[in-house]
Formats: sequence, C-alpha cells, structure tokens
Amino acid sequence: MNVLLTGGMGYIGSHVAVTLLQAGHRVILYDNLRNSEAGILARIAKITGQTPVFIQADIRATKTLTDTLQQHTVEAVLHFAGLKAVGESAQKPVEYYANNVEGTISLMQAMQEAEVRSLVFSSSATVYGEPRYLPLDEAHPLAATNPYGRSKLHIEEMLRDLSISDPLWRVISLRYFNPAGAHESGLLGEKPVAVPNNLMPYMARVATGELKELSVFGNDYPTPDGTGVRDYIHVMDLAEGHMAALFWLAEHPGWHTLNLGTGQGYSVLEMVAAFAKASGRAVPYRIAPRRKGDVAACYADPEKARRELGWQARRDLAEMCASAWKFQKQLQTG
Ligand code: NAD
Ligand code: UD1
Repeated sequence: MNVLLTGGMGYIGSHVAVTLLQAGHRVILYDNLRNSEAGILARIAKITGQTPVFIQADIRATKTLTDTLQQHTVEAVLHFAGLKAVGESAQKPVEYYANNVEGTISLMQAMQEAEVRSLVFSSSATVYGEPRYLPLDEAHPLAATNPYGRSKLHIEEMLRDLSISDPLWRVISLRYFNPAGAHESGLLGEKPVAVPNNLMPYMARVATGELKELSVFGNDYPTPDGTGVRDYIHVMDLAEGHMAALFWLAEHPGWHTLNLGTGQGYSVLEMVAAFAKASGRAVPYRIAPRRKGDVAACYADPEKARRELGWQARRDLAEMCASAWKFQKQLQTG
C-alpha cells in the first residue's frame, strides 16, 4: 500500500514509518521539519534498509500536497502533522488553530481533489477533558481545557462531517494516551526540547545529570500514592496500532474513534522507580505543587481496539524506560 504520513519525520510518525516499511509498504513522508530534522531519514534507512520518499513542505500548501498524493498514487493518509505543546497553545492559540485546524482543512481539500479517501488521524485522550469516570471509553463525553485540545476536537468534528457527507470516506481518529519510549535500536525517539514538559523525557535528562532533579507535580491527589496516574504506551505499540487501524479501515467506511492505550495506569513515583531501575541511575526528585490543568488519573479502556483491530499493547513499562534510556544515551554519545 502507498501511504502518506503528514508529520512523518516527527516522534510518532517516524516510528510508524519504520513499522510500515518493515511490513513491505511504500511510505511517503510529508513534513515541513518545524519540529524535526532531515537526519531522521538516514536513521529510518539504517533501521529498515530503505529510504522513504520525503517531501519537505507544509500541509497548508494544498497544491503541493495534492500533487504529492497524485504523483505517488497514495491510497491512504496518516495525519500526524500538528503542534502539540499544551502550555504553548494557551500562549499562541492562533498559531495552533492555523497550523492544526487550517492544516487539516487543507489536507481534506487535497485528499478530495486527489480522490484519496482513507485517513487515520492522530488525536489525543485530551479530548475527554476532566475524566467523569475511569477507565475512559470512546463514549465518554468530550471537552477541551486548552487550545491544543480544542484544535483536536475541532478537527474530529470536521472529519466526522466529512465522513458523513460522502459514503466513500473512511476516517478513524486514534486517541493516544501517553506515548513513551523509543525504537529498540536507540536511533529514533522523542526529540529533546530545551527543558521537556513531559515526564519521561524529563526523567531521562535527570538520569544523565543534565537536569538536577524532577519536580513531582503534587502528591495529594486521590491516587494510591498521591501522585498523578497516567496510561503510558510504548511508541512501537502505538505504531503497530496504526498499522492495524489502517487495514481495518479498508473494511470499514465511515467515521470511527478509537483509544490507543494499555488500560494500565502508573503513578509518577512508580515511573521514577521504573526509570531508575532501567537506567541504573538515580532519579532524584522533590515534591512540588500541582501543575495547573493536570488531572489526578487518566487511563484508557482499550477494549474497543482489542475487539475491532485485534490489537493490544504488548510492551511493558520496563521496555518503555529501557528504550527511552538507550535513545538518551545515544544522543549524548552522538
Ligand atoms: P512531533 O512534533 O514529534 O511530530 C509532528 C511533526 O509534524 C513534526 O515533524 C513537525 O515538523 C510536523 N509538522 C507540524 N506542523 C506541520 C505542518 N504545518 N506541515 C507539515 N509538517 C508539520 O509530534 P508527535 O509526538 O510525533 O505527535 C504526532 C501527532 O500525535 C500530533 O498531531 C500530536 O498532537 C499527536 N499526539 C501526540 C502525543 C504525544 O504525547 N506525543 C499525544 C497525543 C497526540
Ligand atoms: C500531557 C498533555 C496532554 C498530551 C500529553 C502527551 C497537559 C495538561 N496534558 O499529558 O494533552 O497529550 O502530555 O504529550 O499538559 N509530571 C511531573 N513532573 C514533570 C512532568 C510531569 O510530576 O516534570 C507528572 C504530571 O503531573 C502527570 C504525569 O507526570 O501526572 C505525566 O505528565 P506528562 O508527561 O506531562 O503528560 P500529561 O500531563 O498526562
């Protein structure tokens, strides 16, 4: 199958590209490198022995996108391109709506023009807002608490309208829980930002000694040890979930939503212990005030994905930590 990955040079897209290439599919990566780098291509090639087609362009360049879909006889699109920092989205809402929402409108136009009507969208558990019950199933009411989350909700609504307008469309929105870990080679992983916001990349920097200590945001939540509980899912499990969804879609026209999570929640302190064990390094921490906007616990009911796709996460927390650590060390040694 010829598959185009918008944002395919990013953290999740690059892992999905590897999974698709290794399964014998043709992959076209379409990315403006806003949050990634050209060197990813060589790393994908080193792992798979194949260099995918790469188009450096913005998804808002509708004509370029249409031409790419046509020239490469693309059969399906996986749509990863987007801005994803929650805090930044509150500072720059217009940029987030322009990139994420306008970008998706452009993609829908290009796909209509090129008559490509299969789409897998990268959504997030953030569309459930503050959990009213746990685990979160796909029927949980939707809400947004920040512009990033709202951009995902707007996009889901647009894609749903599109699927209803024409029975030839098949669209699935995958709601990721907390992607973590890296490819087992240590060649691909989450691109480090100056000071990471997310727990796993932050811990990795503490373990190397680049950052002094982890601030644990709150230990007075109504959870077993008082710290926040999340559903961390290995990025390679996520990648396999995308491939399963892509082929399932071939038999299922219309609009669909699906959680990609493990169903298992871990607290911040459990994560600290697991990372220290995997790395063999201490992860010093101190208890800090709660972070604004955080919820006590958030984890998936992954049953629909298991039932529909026959997919479930296979890799455990130890593998997530070990692979993230391997990637971090590889970054240090170059
Ligand atoms: P990432 O930033 O590593 O990858 C996104 C890629 O999209 C980058 O390579 C970036 O250069 C590209 N991009 C951004 N805007 C673009 C544009 N206008 N045109 C072309 N390319 C553009 O992020 P990721 O972690 O791989 O996330 C991929 C998707 O999954 C995003 O839509 C994100 O919102 C969603 N998601 C991520 C997480 C997570 O924790 N990583 C959780 C839930 C949902
Ligand atoms: C955040 C985003 C979410 C996004 C996800 C993955 C918010 C409110 N939500 O989720 O939309 O989909 O990232 O990119 O930002 N923690 C610490 N110390 C730290 C960092 C985190 O204690 O330095 C704790 C948090 O309080 C939380 C857990 O670790 O309990 C996980 O945090 P994080 O990795 O940032 O993910 P989420 O907040 O779940």
